[in-house]
Amino acid sequence: MENSLYLRVSPRLGGLGFPEWLGEEEEQWEKCVHNHNMAAIRLGGAEDLEAVAAIQARSPGAAKWDVSDYLEQVFLVAEDGNQVVGFLVWRAVAADEAEILNLAVVPEFRRRGVARRLLEGALRTFNGDFFLEVRESGTGAQEFYKSLGFQEVTRRKGYYDLPPETAIVMKFHSC
Ligand SMILES: CC(C)(COP(=O)(O)OP(=O)(O)OC[C@H]1O[C@@H](n2cnc3c(N)ncnc32)[C@H](O)[C@@H]1OP(=O)(O)O)[C@@H](O)C(=O)NCCC(=O)NCCS
Repeated sequence: MENSLYLRVSPRLGGLGFPEWLGEEEEQWEKCVHNHNMAAIRLGGAEDLEAVAAIQARSPGAAKWDVSDYLEQVFLVAEDGNQVVGFLVWRAVAADEAEILNLAVVPEFRRRGVARRLLEGALRTFNGDFFLEVRESGTGAQEFYKSLGFQEVTRRKGYYDLPPETAIVMKFHSC
C-alpha cells in the first residue's frame, strides 16, 4: 500500500503505542471494496489536499485549517469514482482519548451516509472517548453526531471567532 497508515499518523499518536491496532486498520483499508452505491473509504494523501480544501471551503460548519496539516493526523477520505467527496481528520491525544479535528462532505453528496462511513471506521478502531467541538448554529452536524451516539457534555462560550460563537462539546464512548 503506497500510503501507509503508519506515515499518516501524528508523531504523538505513534508515541502512544498503537502499532497493533494500526496494523489491523491497515489490513482493513487494503480489503476496502468499492461499491458503486457507496463511496469508498481510504487513507488520504498529499494528492487529495486540493479536493479536500475545496470541500472545506464549501462547508461553513467545517474547521478552516491548512489542509497540509492533515497529513500529520489520521486522515481519511471518501471517494466516489475518482472524486473525493468527503474527509475526516482525527487524532489520539491519549491512550484512551481521541478528538475529531474536522469532517465534511461535498454538499451534493450529503445525506447518503458518507460521513457516517468515515466516522464509523474511526469509532470502531479506537477504544476510548472521542471528543469534538461543533458550532452552536451547526444543528445539522449536531444531529449527525447524535445519530451516531455522541452526546453533548458542555458548552464553551466565545470559543469560535469569525463569527464569534459558542462551541458545543460532544463525546462518544467507544469500546
Ligand atoms: C455534518 C456532515 C459531515 C454530515 O455528512 P453526511 O454525509 O450528509 O451525513 P450522513 O449522510 O452520514 O448522515 C447520517 C445521519 O446523520 C443525520 N444527519 C446528517 N445530516 C443531518 C442534517 N443536516 N440534519 C439532520 N440530521 C442529519 C441523519 O440521521 C442521517 O441519517 P439519514 O440521512 O438516514 O436521516 C455534513 O452535513 C457536512 O459536511 N456539513 C458541513 C461541515 C460540518 O458542519 N462539519 C462538522 C464539523 S464539527
